Amino acid sequence: MKPYFFPKDFIWGTSTSAHQTEGNNINSDWWEWENSKKYFSPDSGTVSEREFPLEPSGIACDSYNRYEEDFDLCVDLNNNAVRISIEWARIEPEHGKFDENEIEHYKKVLKAARARGLKTFVTLHHFTNPIWFSKIGGWTNINSPSYFAKYAKKCAEEFHDLIDVFLTINEPQVYVYMSYFHGIWPPNKMSTVLSLWAQINLARANNKAYDAIKGSPYKEGVAPKIGIVKNIVWYEASMSSKNPLDKLIAKILHFIGSDFFFLMIKNKFDLIGLNYYFTNRIENLRTKNPDDVVNDLGWWIYPKGLFNILLSLKKYNVEIYITENGLADDKDEKREYFIREMLKSCSEAIQKGVNLKGYFHWSLLDNYEWHHGFWPCFGLIRVDRKTLERTKRPSFKYYSEICKTGELKL
Ligand code: FCB
Repeated sequence: MKPYFFPKDFIWGTSTSAHQTEGNNINSDWWEWENSKKYFSPDSGTVSEREFPLEPSGIACDSYNRYEEDFDLCVDLNNNAVRISIEWARIEPEHGKFDENEIEHYKKVLKAARARGLKTFVTLHHFTNPIWFSKIGGWTNINSPSYFAKYAKKCAEEFHDLIDVFLTINEPQVYVYMSYFHGIWPPNKMSTVLSLWAQINLARANNKAYDAIKGSPYKEGVAPKIGIVKNIVWYEASMSSKNPLDKLIAKILHFIGSDFFFLMIKNKFDLIGLNYYFTNRIENLRTKNPDDVVNDLGWWIYPKGLFNILLSLKKYNVEIYITENGLADDKDEKREYFIREMLKSCSEAIQKGVNLKGYFHWSLLDNYEWHHGFWPCFGLIRVDRKTLERTKRPSFKYYSEICKTGELKL
């Protein structure tokens, strides 16, 4: 079979987020919750002592201090870009008070990436909030978009010449679902009304932040690109479905999880960051996936789903970057297959005219996987929980070769 070639200027990277890797994110709502020993049980609808294997993030990967070592690993991967996030709770630990030391810290981080030839894709909100923000109602506060936009403006003023691409908010709908509907993330609400309202506020926040960043002064006179990061699940009727409604349900679910949100942020994104993990098939109005390859979390690995989503995004006429795509696979048995097949879908989508400009694998390192704690291992690099020593998994080499040559051998 012929090899697949990616364009010369294709962006190759990995993706992480601050709370999951930095450690000691003490002014955030997640930190407060993880250490409160309280857990919201969706089954009983009550707050109780911890019932699930949630563990606190603690020192995480200590990337707050080890970022240079981490970026060196990105260089070993032959990457030309990196996606990280800036932690709002560090930059603005008290309402309206920006922490100059933390701003200096992130300048050092971004400069360290640039010094290694890595373009910087930076998320401003990746699931965590400052405690002061959650105390005043978090994303249900009517002014939440303005508060976020002020922080975004500050980031633009301080970091504009160090950031290549601003990513406003990571997976707003996943965040809302887990925190305001399913209730297993802070602030542990289970409410349809609140989850809709929070979703609207996150869309408003994106729009206000977009304007705030665009309106900031830039030294070189060039405004950076701004995008949103959307997780999109592909839905389709199962092969054996006999119920004609299954197709319709799949379409509706796709609309809610994709186009509905893009409608709310119309004209307020220069690019789309796409996170793709899995597909769900519908049979008799329920999820029923085939008995096929899954990751350690049971998520179905279906590369064709990525291809279908990429085609569905073509109509937006903006650049697309895959900002997350990866799998929990501690033994590293499926990662090479996963990367190959997903990139094959990417290449085929490019051939069909999709303006796909880059791919970031989730993740560089094993890290804190939210309510699951540390056990799901998404890293191309294993992190020893005791020593925090980083060890490359075999698939690291596989991905590094592709990043070097831009060629996918089948
Ligand atoms: C995504 C999140 C990311 C990570 C991966 C596995 O939904 O953006 O932080 O947890 O899932």
